[in-house]
Amino acid sequence: MSTPLSLELDSVTLAEQYDRLGTRQFHHGLELLDVLAVQRGEKVLDIGCGTGLLTEAAAERTGPEGEVLGIDPLALRVELAQKRARGRFDARIGRAEALHDVPDAHYDVVYLNSVIHWVPDQLAALAHAFRVLKPGGRVGFTTMSQEAPHDLHVVLRALLAREPRWQAARVGAPHQLTQERAALLLAAAGFNVTYNEIREFDDAFDTVDDVIAFSRASSFGNFLSALDESDTARVRKRLGEALEAKRGPRGIALKRRMTFATGRKPVAQ
Ligand SMILES: C[S@@+](CC[C@H](N)C(=O)[O-])C[C@H]1O[C@@H](n2cnc3c(N)ncnc32)[C@H](O)[C@@H]1O
Repeated sequence: MSTPLSLELDSVTLAEQYDRLGTRQFHHGLELLDVLAVQRGEKVLDIGCGTGLLTEAAAERTGPEGEVLGIDPLALRVELAQKRARGRFDARIGRAEALHDVPDAHYDVVYLNSVIHWVPDQLAALAHAFRVLKPGGRVGFTTMSQEAPHDLHVVLRALLAREPRWQAARVGAPHQLTQERAALLLAAAGFNVTYNEIREFDDAFDTVDDVIAFSRASSFGNFLSALDESDTARVRKRLGEALEAKRGPRGIALKRRMTFATGRKPVAQ
């Protein structure tokens, strides 16, 4: 069993690193915005906006006549998103399962990019998304795929299985979804499912330390956090050796798979 997820492990360094290394999530997030066909003038809610990279891209698509709000529970990341916004979008602290201060039937599009796999009560999160969407509004999320794990997680789980005390270490997000579960959740919240596919992304890293920095920043400090210093050093060494087998012309080549799921709120209820 992995240690429970914590929202208390973030730091200025991790938030700043995510702002640089989160370009991987940013790029698949742009694909999510394409699937959702975000248009000029629309009102968009970005749940789990992090440092606001994708929120900014959404605001570019909606233009000044649109409205974009990003929410995230991590104060340090919201601060970076607010700096990035420069009046083009808003960002504030909040959680997917508790959007109580967001008005009903206000948004055209609500999305969670690389977020829902961190959310313990996913149905509550999607029920809130449903409530704040206008009739006919679109919801979308990307999630780590439970049936098609990232290459890194496959390698690491095999490595951590060798020592009993390493098994408490968190590798991926705790609430990953299968495609089937993603569709069931959307339907349970009241949406008609409009898209449900696994997409694959080719990541490249120079060193094992880059892989670890990316994973730590993306998990706001949870990745391998249960390990003490000496176990971390041992895991890092063994991971480095295992990842060398995956080195290609662009560096350490790792495939990452994400489920993309979208739905529409019915017009007449
Ligand atoms: C990997 S980052 C993704 C950030 C951003 N969406 C992006 O595409 O770059 C995951 C984000 O989910 C946020 N998060 C975790 N639990 C959450 C929750 N319960 N509600 C909303 N956001 C949450 C984290 O604070 C973090 O910023």
